[in-house]
Amino acid sequence: MPSAKPSAAKFAKVAREAKGCTRCPLYKNATQTVFGEGPIGAPLLLIGEQPGDQEDLQGRPFVGPAGKMLDRALVEAGVDRTQVYVTNIVKHFKNEPRGKRRLHKKPNRYEVEVCKIWFDQELAIVRPQLVVAMGVTAASALAGKTVTLSRLRGQVIAFANAGNQQGMVTIHPSSILRAPDEAGRHAAYAGLVKDLKLAVKACAKLPTAA
Ligand code: URA
Repeated sequence: MPSAKPSAAKFAKVAREAKGCTRCPLYKNATQTVFGEGPIGAPLLLIGEQPGDQEDLQGRPFVGPAGKMLDRALVEAGVDRTQVYVTNIVKHFKNEPRGKRRLHKKPNRYEVEVCKIWFDQELAIVRPQLVVAMGVTAASALAGKTVTLSRLRGQVIAFANAGNQQGMVTIHPSSILRAPDEAGRHAAYAGLVKDLKLAVKACAKLPTAA
């Protein structure tokens, strides 16, 4: 019987296929596919919405301003980012040129749905114990319905549109940057750190993949 493909080879194959993705029009206006990164078998998988300007240019998730915010929160929550798998539900940067800048545009339901094929494969290969969806776009895509973050955060839930994968939801790090004042930024950041700490605790209680 042929042996199962080792996960690393499978991962490289899927990442390569995603590089050439034309399943929706977003590839036309982006520099490149930004696939997820991190160890296969990482206990924790973090998923955001889509790459931003910096991510699009560098080809790596969460390396721009929202990524710096996430990095800070991870350190404060005692999480080593190199041990976490980080990705996005949409793999191309949806943007609208405005002068020299490219403004972020929210992906629509169709774009999220067709792109999810890549996340489904990342999930099957990485097999994390817990998925933390950051922001409404990722959380709703995995829940299979529009969710209210404030109602769900802090609890371990089963993501119905991701094979009932155990997960949690939290705010998107970029929402901290958009808070109207320092007090709002502080509160939002503290909330993210608290949720990440809860995720680590929850992870420790969940079974590891067989
Ligand atoms: N926002 C996201 O959702 N993902 C990134 O990679 C960067 C910003």
